[in-house]
Amino acid sequence: MRVTAAIHRAYEIAAIDDRLYAAFIEHMGRAIYSGIYEPGHPQADATGFRRDVAAMVRDLNIPAIRYPGGNFVSAYNWEDGVGPQEARPVRLDLAWRSKETNQVGLNEFAPWAEDLGIDLMLAVNLGSRGISEARDFMEYVNHPAGTYWSDLRRSHGVEAPYNVRMWCLGNEMDGPWQIGHKQADEYGRLANETAKALRQLTPGAEMIVCGSSNDAMPTYPDWERGVLEECYENVDYISLHKYFGNSSRDTLNFFGKVEETGRYIQAIGGVIDFVKAKKRATNDVHICFDEWNVWYHRREEDSRAWASWDWPEAPALLEEDYTFEDALFVACLLNEFIRRSDRVKIACIAQLVNVIAPIRAEAGGPAWRQTIYWPYQLASLHGRGRALRVAVDGPRYDCAVADDVSYLDIAATHDTGAGTVTFFIVNRHLSEAADLRLTLGDFPGATLLSHQTLAGHPLMATNGPGREAIVPVPGQGLGIEDDTLGGQVAPLSYHVVKLK
Ligand code: AHR
Repeated sequence: MRVTAAIHRAYEIAAIDDRLYAAFIEHMGRAIYSGIYEPGHPQADATGFRRDVAAMVRDLNIPAIRYPGGNFVSAYNWEDGVGPQEARPVRLDLAWRSKETNQVGLNEFAPWAEDLGIDLMLAVNLGSRGISEARDFMEYVNHPAGTYWSDLRRSHGVEAPYNVRMWCLGNEMDGPWQIGHKQADEYGRLANETAKALRQLTPGAEMIVCGSSNDAMPTYPDWERGVLEECYENVDYISLHKYFGNSSRDTLNFFGKVEETGRYIQAIGGVIDFVKAKKRATNDVHICFDEWNVWYHRREEDSRAWASWDWPEAPALLEEDYTFEDALFVACLLNEFIRRSDRVKIACIAQLVNVIAPIRAEAGGPAWRQTIYWPYQLASLHGRGRALRVAVDGPRYDCAVADDVSYLDIAATHDTGAGTVTFFIVNRHLSEAADLRLTLGDFPGATLLSHQTLAGHPLMATNGPGREAIVPVPGQGLGIEDDTLGGQVAPLSYHVVKLK
């Protein structure tokens, strides 16, 4: 198939917020315990955190991480996770029918994140708790000294405040499964009052209010309207979540879910604009897509297991084995976030280690990178700067979830400082190569700096411990001639092409 495309440096979508490549980690399954933290493991450091896992996290260049949940946070007492480890209570985690030992809490997690250069994005419990506990938590986290909670932190050996800027006001409060689930106006009022209180403690702190758990929720998108009508002026972001699957084994429809996500973002963008206009507000609210990933391979098996088990500690849960097809999907989804970077400022892959994660770690054994690690890493490393509009003209298809989906998916970023332009290209066609001619317009004389590709694997191929065949390799077949990037893009392949 023949595809023509064009860019121009003036046709910019937005400055990409680095936090588009943020992550999420929850106290559930083996994400924390025997994921990032496993005292006694041969790779554990003096504080019990695994060096092998940390090295894989470091290579992702993650700007921010949402913690500690998730559904978990809606019945979490943050005080259980601070102070001497031996005195911490073991609690039942209602969200995942597990036991939480509280051996990791804020004062263990924060240094781990800091060492990796990752900013914290902390979630407060607005399910079983309210304003008072959220205020106490922020005082413990951010107040310098001389008060009950800040001095308690100092007595726990943390002299300097953490100065956390990003605060999530609960989690998925629209979901009936959530402990303390609420109606939109009820939650909106609580979020508003909590945001006001927290901002008195930390002026300028960014507030993230819960939007829909997904776009199939019966309350979507009226939920966002109802919530924002209560709190618009006091929040900075509304969070969206969405997980994806291909149970029907229809690859093109699976890829089409990226277009569906574009509609989701667009619709919530419209709701934000509506509420802003209605309230005559002057501030802007953006989207924080703080849970996204593929999640379907083990979903039924997992829900059967956890409905019947007897409150285990750190059980294997949501340990999805990701395929090459999933890697292509994630590449396309990240392209969509780049294209929507005017609305989406923060996005968090959910999650980071073991639980629906790009990194897996065997208890007592090796850590390894799943297929989806690579598109996430390549976008995080190269997808910074400014998003450029790419006009793509080529064959398209219709599927159950979307019409008019381009087989060739291209996003582009312009790093004005480095003087580079990077293309993220996915050929979603099942069997045909694309003969691409991409006009570089006003980037005359650009040369090809690097080309990495993921290609040539069976769709259902996976990586595993000691078996990481799906990794980026130097790409071939694309070159520049007459200020045009051109060549053959193999079917079912992903390319990151950098020009200077
Ligand atoms: O990431 C797993 C779970 O998915 C989170 O706890 C919850 O917020 C979402 O439903």
